[in-house]
Amino acid sequence: MKIVGKASIRDFTFETSKKIKFGEYVIVKNIDDEDVLSVVKNVYLVDGKFICDAKVIGVLKDKKISVNKSPISSSSDVELCSDEILSEIFYTPNGLNIGSILSRENIRVYLDTNKLVSRHFAILAVTGGGKSNTVAVLCKEFGRKNASLVVLDPHGEYSTLYHEDLEKKTKVILPTINPSKLTPEELADLIGLSKDEEINKKRIFLEYAYYTIKKESPESKGMDFIEKLGELIYEWVKLAEVGWEIKYYHPLKRKYDMRKTGEDDFINMVSLYDRINKFKDAFSLNIGDKDMIEELEIGKINIINLSGLEIPQMTTLVGYIAKNVLSKRILYIKSLRDLNSPNEMIKRNAMQNLKEIELHYRIATKPVVMVVEEAHIFIPINEKTPASLWLGKIAREGRKFGVGLGLVSQRPKQLDPNVLSQTNTKIVLRIVEPEDQKYIQRASEDLGEDLVKDLASLGIGEAVIVGAAISLPSIVKIDRFDGIYGGKDIDIVREWMGLHW
Ligand SMILES: Nc1ncnc2c1ncn2[C@@H]1O[C@H](COP(=O)(O)OP(=O)(O)OP(=O)(O)O)[C@@H](O)[C@H]1O
Ligand SMILES: [Mg+2]
Repeated sequence: MKIVGKASIRDFTFETSKKIKFGEYVIVKNIDDEDVLSVVKNVYLVDGKFICDAKVIGVLKDKKISVNKSPISSSSDVELCSDEILSEIFYTPNGLNIGSILSRENIRVYLDTNKLVSRHFAILAVTGGGKSNTVAVLCKEFGRKNASLVVLDPHGEYSTLYHEDLEKKTKVILPTINPSKLTPEELADLIGLSKDEEINKKRIFLEYAYYTIKKESPESKGMDFIEKLGELIYEWVKLAEVGWEIKYYHPLKRKYDMRKTGEDDFINMVSLYDRINKFKDAFSLNIGDKDMIEELEIGKINIINLSGLEIPQMTTLVGYIAKNVLSKRILYIKSLRDLNSPNEMIKRNAMQNLKEIELHYRIATKPVVMVVEEAHIFIPINEKTPASLWLGKIAREGRKFGVGLGLVSQRPKQLDPNVLSQTNTKIVLRIVEPEDQKYIQRASEDLGEDLVKDLASLGIGEAVIVGAAISLPSIVKIDRFDGIYGGKDIDIVREWMGLHW
């Protein structure tokens, strides 16, 4: 194989009589006689010979890659990079073994687990591109490391996740929330009161009722708490109907207060009462006495099945989970540190916190990864949701506390760019739309122009992977998950014809 035409620091063209694949790795010499690793970007067949455009990756020395600073020698031979060298480049100890490089099935690709988790990741593709399959493969690999995962699953597609290696390592959780543990703001979001000016009054009445019930029935929780709220608001409705005052507990003043009511208040209270009843009907299965954070287990793939819920409820639940996982983890790490404090009170306080976390919030005692399917629902561009605040915090601060974030989406353009750009490793499967491609490129440091061009031609399960978790930006054929998950394509004809699996 030899170089033809011009060769530069960044690229060159060579010809060969042997068949060569797109994505193949070759080695050439630069004018300083260093070995330069390069990748084939295009192949043409001219007069029975293969003409290949190659792009320089970097100088290869002692299995390490550094920036190439000298032009490729035009008299250099071009050789295929050996399997041995490639295997070493793509191997990472304790890595996640997720597939092979596109040009050679026998070269396995490992992602650096620590970097993937601590610097966050995103899995992006058109629908049907292979995102869920990638998540399933990652779950299996994470499972082998006894990782703690929380998978937020809007379609319930991972509820059936099965793999023999994941035996006793998956747990499906129907999200239940204890409303008495929420802040009045969170409760208003959960009930579905919007934040508009006009609706604000409903939020105010809900807050009055919330603090009044907390004062009068401090033990109330679960559905009982919601029912008590409804009963109190119904009493107020009757008072407001005839223009009488209502009495509520004021938490800041620490005493009861009175408020005159007008026609407007009456209308708002009726509507709030109605909203609470509708919420009770739609959400009854998800209201419980127990905090679902207590159900999350360490060393397991915890799958939160959000299917069947409306978007405001989903985003509130996800916000609640993200907030608790991050804040409990911060408290845990801070308390561990405080155990060494010379101040007895700080020490005692830390011990108390640790005991509480060990007992009720065990998920916070180890690093945890949150995988968010349909991430554009939770952290959309130009819009705040109850989840975006806390998922954004995890993206910015999670690294310091061992909380990783993995975003999965088929609509990259609809994701908040600030959060997307915090995900360092990008696993980008087929993306056809140029606007989507540009958007992803703007959110990633390592996604070069040439790799972006490859995105539209990728097949199912083929991914451009860039970022800290992979040794070098590469095209990877992700393994087909050899277990079960619910996202697989349905065989429509088989179903119509009544043929079963
Ligand atoms: N790496 C792969 N190797 C072989 N087949 C794959 C691979 N990845 C995905 N597939 C197949 O392609 C189909 C779609 O994959 P998948 O459900 O992962 O797509 P998706 O991107 O999650 O789609 P959606 O946007 O609809 O959620 C499935 O039938 C799956 O088995
Ligand atoms: Mg999917």
